[in-house]
Amino acid sequence: MPDSKTTVPSVTRSKGERKLVVITAYDAGQAALAEAAGADILLVGDSLAMVVLGHPDTLSVTMDEMLHHVKAVSRGASKALVVADMPFMSYQADVAEAVRNAGRMLKEGRAQAVKVEGGAEIAPQVRAMTASGIPVVGHLGLTPQHVAAFGGFRVQARTARDARRLLDDALAVARAGAFALVLECVPREVARIVTGRVDVPTIGIGAGPDCDGQVLVYHDLLGLGGGFSPRFVKRYDDLGARTREALSRFAAEVRDGTFPGPEHGFAMNEAEWERLAS
Ligand code: KIV
Ligand code: NA
Repeated sequence: MPDSKTTVPSVTRSKGERKLVVITAYDAGQAALAEAAGADILLVGDSLAMVVLGHPDTLSVTMDEMLHHVKAVSRGASKALVVADMPFMSYQADVAEAVRNAGRMLKEGRAQAVKVEGGAEIAPQVRAMTASGIPVVGHLGLTPQHVAAFGGFRVQARTARDARRLLDDALAVARAGAFALVLECVPREVARIVTGRVDVPTIGIGAGPDCDGQVLVYHDLLGLGGGFSPRFVKRYDDLGARTREALSRFAAEVRDGTFPGPEHGFAMNEAEWERLAS
């Protein structure tokens, strides 16, 4: 675990030196736990929409909803770099709007960087944000904000032609100033080639072992999610089952009167009660 604070330059310098550990977080408690576990970067993902807010995809989450959670994560973090996902339609339509919205993540949310999905088409936004002092992480491959166009969540860049386009997009986003790139759900060979060609760290999710770092969604790696779990997720615990079990014991003890016991309550001065009642 890094003893000093993770900064944008320290992330850049990590390439080829050490693997970056990235965990998503959505509140102060999760941020503190992930940081204590040694995460270099806390990503306030727009996966918030799905794992916290109950939406079927990431499209509906708003700037204000994201900001609410970015603020909480920033309060819970002291050493890890906090990266805020830019939600769908907060940056795609217009460069000036993109810069203003990204600025809110730093100014109000106290994040240190933002993340945007896409390739060469969003290079102007990446360039303008970077020029304004807003560090940017790119995100290519399976970009969930394109779910409608993709027709579902599926592996990207499986053909040589698509892989070539992904590489060009990665180079365009890095050239525009992105200091790291998330690669999601692409064949490991594609991730290895992109990682070798860009001079900023790549952070993989479902992209094989050759990326410069790895990211997983907090709920997925702890088994806190619902039923479906994509193939690239490794569950390090089943806190969902353990939580259900603990909550069921509480429910049973309330119903059978075992809880609360005398040790969970407070006593009053009975002598005084007798005096008042008489
Ligand atoms: O929203 C998110 O959690 C993400 C990561 C999975 C990279 O974008
Ligand atoms: Na995201």
